[in-house]
Amino acid sequence: MTKRAILTSALPYANGEIHLGHVASTYLPADVTARHLRQRGVEAYYVCATDDYGTPILIQSEREGKTPAEYVAGWNTRDAEDFESLGMRFDAFSSTSSEACGEFVRGVYERLREAGHIYEKEVVQPYCARDAMFLPDRYVHGTCPHCGADDQYSDLCESCGKVPDRILGPKCAICGETPENRTTTHHFFALSHFAGRLREWLEGADGMQMDVRRYVLGWIAQGLSDWDITRDITWGVRIPGDEGRVFYGWFDNHLAYISATLGMLDGRGIDAKGFWNSADIYHFIGKDIVYHHYLFLPAVRMGLGGEFKLPDRMPVRGHLTLAGKKISKSRGHYISIRDFLSRYPADYLRFYLLLVTPYSQDDLNFDWDDFALRINKELVGNIGNFVNRALSFAHRSFDGHVPAPGPESGEDAAARGRIGALAGEVGALVDEGHLDRALKGILAFSAHFNQYFQHCEPWKGGDGAATCVHLSANAVRSLAIALCAFVPSSAQRMWEQLGEAGSVEAQPWEAASEVRIGAGHAIGRPSALFARVDEGEIAGLKESLGGASG
Ligand code: 2FM
Ligand code: ZN
Repeated sequence: MTKRAILTSALPYANGEIHLGHVASTYLPADVTARHLRQRGVEAYYVCATDDYGTPILIQSEREGKTPAEYVAGWNTRDAEDFESLGMRFDAFSSTSSEACGEFVRGVYERLREAGHIYEKEVVQPYCARDAMFLPDRYVHGTCPHCGADDQYSDLCESCGKVPDRILGPKCAICGETPENRTTTHHFFALSHFAGRLREWLEGADGMQMDVRRYVLGWIAQGLSDWDITRDITWGVRIPGDEGRVFYGWFDNHLAYISATLGMLDGRGIDAKGFWNSADIYHFIGKDIVYHHYLFLPAVRMGLGGEFKLPDRMPVRGHLTLAGKKISKSRGHYISIRDFLSRYPADYLRFYLLLVTPYSQDDLNFDWDDFALRINKELVGNIGNFVNRALSFAHRSFDGHVPAPGPESGEDAAARGRIGALAGEVGALVDEGHLDRALKGILAFSAHFNQYFQHCEPWKGGDGAATCVHLSANAVRSLAIALCAFVPSSAQRMWEQLGEAGSVEAQPWEAASEVRIGAGHAIGRPSALFARVDEGEIAGLKESLGGASG
């Protein structure tokens, strides 16, 4: 394992509040992976930023009577707060409209241009005479030329995932008029120059999911179109030598992964480029932006002649549905982080989403009843129950101290074996990206110890009681270490109730498999770690927070 890592998650548009959909597919998996890598002794940095540019943001800021800069700054602060309240820990939370990001983008453009990967070409652009503007991206909708899906935006077909060159039957999204065509000159990035290198790279990109590689290779085989990177608006990174026009947001946003990381590392006195180029690079994304990340992003990096290492892993996860239906902010069918956290602790949300989110592009569903069921059965009934039982018993019956173990039965030896295997088994699943399975592995470990404790019946006294309590206290220690990337504050409370000092996340990962707590160790004061989710309350929340299926 490389001892350095940089992790990013797809940059949220600075145009609305973070909701459960964002969190499940990208931010949480990245946060857990970053925390886990640190437990493994990797120097890992988790970087994010708001994606500040684009026409929708410009329009919305005007509607609110703010400058676009004020508008995005507000969302940047708000998003950072929401992420923090979820236990998401970024080493940098930047913004694509920062001066440093803009400078970096212009530098990249100049170098790509010198290398012959940028050219200018006359294009015919949709222009809405009624609105007196060129209509970029989301401002034109129509039929996808690739798959025939109706009502798609010109910058991304939600049905086939491709970026249509020229949408069929275009309509202005503001007024519904058919736009006229006007000729203008735009800058293009020659994506087609990179087809061969992208193919070669993807064929050997073992850190990426196989099915994703396969369909991206399919896109390459069909032929890649060059990218129009100019937008006729004022809000964006200014194109050098082309005053009044800006880069397309997808030209600059992924470059913020690099510029924000370099800025953060520089600030810490680290050789930033050297670090980037010797680290494992992870970009966590949702399945709707595969095209941009698997083609555009590596091609731009290739165009820079290897100055910045290509990604090693770009985990792709599916969309979150809410009660089986697509999340829609405009229809109010979504749950904001704030609303959720006003009811339940962050760890409940982390736990549930991590448990139901597979390492695949399959969509996943947030369901209030299932949420209540899993929290009550697993977090409360399994983990909380075991930890509380083991620690309370030690507190009561052994005067708050962990007893010395007696002779070991077969069952004791099996329990000790489970502790010994935990770090290896769970660690391997996290390494492969299967965070849901890793969490299930930890739950199986806890369930094993619940049964073990039940079978040993330490409350009846006898020879086995001390061994059982000794091993159970050590299992609580293992659980705290294994869980701390997933549910950090609960793991820390477990750690404190166990009477351990400091921070559980400072423990090396392998310590999850050690029997470290010796005889005489004084445990802390046990108390219930989790409270049950009330099913009656859930019924009310379905209505008030969204997520009723009807
Ligand atoms: O699709 C989105 O929400 C974009 N804002 C993601 C940008 S990720 C990029 F920076 F690469
Ligand atoms: Zn399509």
